[in-house]
Amino acid sequence: MSKRFTITAALPYTNGPIHIGHLAGVYIPADIYARFLRLQGHDVAFICGSDEHGVPITLKAKKEGVTPQDIVDRYHANIKTSFDDFGISFDNYSRTSAKNHHETASEFFKTLYDKGEFIEETTAQLYDDEANQFLADRFVVGTCPKCGNEESYGDQCEACGTTHNATDLINPKSAITGATPSLKETKHWFLPLDKHESFLKEWILDGHKSDWKPNVYGQCKSWIEDGLRPRAVTRDLDWGIPVPVESGDGKVLYVWFDAPIGYISSTKEWAQRNGKDWEPYWKDKDTTLVHFIGKDNIVFHCIIFPAMLKAEGSYILPENVPANEFLNLEGQKLSTSKNWAVWLPEYLKDFPEKQDVLRYVLTATAPETKDTDFTWKEFQARNNNELVAIFGNFINRVLVLTQKYYEGSVPSPNAFFEIDTETLEKVNAFPESLSKSIERYRFREASQELMNLARLGNKYLADEEPWKLIKTDPERVQTIMYVALQVSAALAIVSEPFLPTTSQKLKTMLQLPTHSWEAVEKGATLLEPAHQIGTAALLFAKIEDAEIEHQLEKLTQSKLENTLANKVVEPQKETVSFEDFSKLDLRVGTIISAEKMPKAKKLLELQVDTGIDVRTIISGIAESFTAESVVGKRVTVLVNLAPRALRGVESQGMILMTETPEGKLVFVNPDAAHPVANGLKIS
Ligand code: MF3
Ligand code: ZN
Repeated sequence: MSKRFTITAALPYTNGPIHIGHLAGVYIPADIYARFLRLQGHDVAFICGSDEHGVPITLKAKKEGVTPQDIVDRYHANIKTSFDDFGISFDNYSRTSAKNHHETASEFFKTLYDKGEFIEETTAQLYDDEANQFLADRFVVGTCPKCGNEESYGDQCEACGTTHNATDLINPKSAITGATPSLKETKHWFLPLDKHESFLKEWILDGHKSDWKPNVYGQCKSWIEDGLRPRAVTRDLDWGIPVPVESGDGKVLYVWFDAPIGYISSTKEWAQRNGKDWEPYWKDKDTTLVHFIGKDNIVFHCIIFPAMLKAEGSYILPENVPANEFLNLEGQKLSTSKNWAVWLPEYLKDFPEKQDVLRYVLTATAPETKDTDFTWKEFQARNNNELVAIFGNFINRVLVLTQKYYEGSVPSPNAFFEIDTETLEKVNAFPESLSKSIERYRFREASQELMNLARLGNKYLADEEPWKLIKTDPERVQTIMYVALQVSAALAIVSEPFLPTTSQKLKTMLQLPTHSWEAVEKGATLLEPAHQIGTAALLFAKIEDAEIEHQLEKLTQSKLENTLANKVVEPQKETVSFEDFSKLDLRVGTIISAEKMPKAKKLLELQVDTGIDVRTIISGIAESFTAESVVGKRVTVLVNLAPRALRGVESQGMILMTETPEGKLVFVNPDAAHPVANGLKIS
């Protein structure tokens, strides 16, 4: 029976491009789900758009000296294009700076306001006297009252995931000027979450204990049990949707108030374009609403937005909120500011035509129940060993042999052996097992099940060896190829949600007349005898080591740039007079022997020929240089430094060292082309 579904994917912040963390956590699973539902013949609205308000955008604009609108225009275009090129099948991708959204969000606020669903209150809020503005959300950084993280934002701590009010922060500092904020009175509207506590308890804690993911349910439970408090839904900012009531002048809606309403306005935009009514998608009890999000969005989608919808009164609530954990990259947390990410636009440039490879790898390693790690080596291995060696190899054999033996015409089968019927039966069971996994939001499991179907076909051919039988038993080969062609057709159909580009190519190659999931499930003949198929084209190509190394080099580069950017350069010391400087007696010397000092981690005992004499100098460089590596080195020596005993040995001078801008300790080398360049061989 066809049902109506509204599927939403978290609106991405419009202050940077999409990266693999977003894809793995939200957009790929949502897209698989939406495609799967459409294949079942359901009525689907798959909704997304750009989240264009909020402080990070304002901060970025300030930093670049442009307007917030410039920032969102740039990244909205960037994000939309890369989603399109990647093949995410949104029915609508809108943006929250759109007029329609401003109207929808304002209206929503007005309705709650008129119904008396807000508390109006004047409270003291953090204020930056230098910047002359209130500090909410990401404008303020301080210590999280819950976990002690010193870099918590005003509204949310990324370390422990709690949300709080900016005034809860310990030691708050302005993110604009670094100043310690003062307190200033201001009026705001609060959504009294406490008022909705019993409804939330009943709806989530009693109603969704068994069907929501344990991580989602657990977070909700802990919030509810901690006690819900009123949350301000307005801000003293100039970027956002103006508060649409009298005395709301100069204030805007809190970004987390307007953004989820973006799902509704995007649905409206879609409906209007297609001559549909948007309301059933949000108000009909028979519609299933599902929100795909990352774990940092749980409270907003499970508590705050549902409370808003409930308070409004005419909306349905989400059936499920399958939030994912986070994806790491090569063992490290993804970070936009540290450029530690694989950016979608760059991936598409480096690997054109390989959308499905990234989809497959990110699905196979999706952070469904815990944080997982993306590595380029695994990307390569899953491509070469699974997509190429199993899926691609099977299809290629079937197509090439069908062309070779029958000029592309599907052969009529002869007597079926047990292995043939068994294989076909197994194939027909796949739609059900795939559905079961997808319906439980276990996309990772489903992707492996899909690969098992290719494996089944591959093994069937390898066992039956039609290429050996063709001379002795061509009748048997007809049956084998007929069965293998049915497996290929089934793969073409059920792979669509996971590997849409590949599925499309395969359907074209097979000239497949039906694309129906149900046909596979019912065991229908997908390719009739005498059906003419097309020619084989490559579905997947091997990824070479050099391509992976190139990607790893890019990451190494990011790391290097980060160390540079984060390095605190020592400020210049006080000026010295020329008289003082000329007291220093600097000579060129040669290290003639070196020994590690016992029980001193940092010290080398050197014998240095200074031209005047050979003397002992103790140098604290053992952590950077081995004794052997410094012997024979010509160095600059301060010979008239007052002698000093170190570990009972008298040091009679000092070898001059300095640091490169990268923080590497180097000799002030008299023979180097550049005075601080190190590593020239002394002969
Ligand atoms: N922009 C938010 C983020 O990237 C998600 C917003 S989801 C919405 O974390 F529901 F508010 F739209
Ligand atoms: Zn915290």
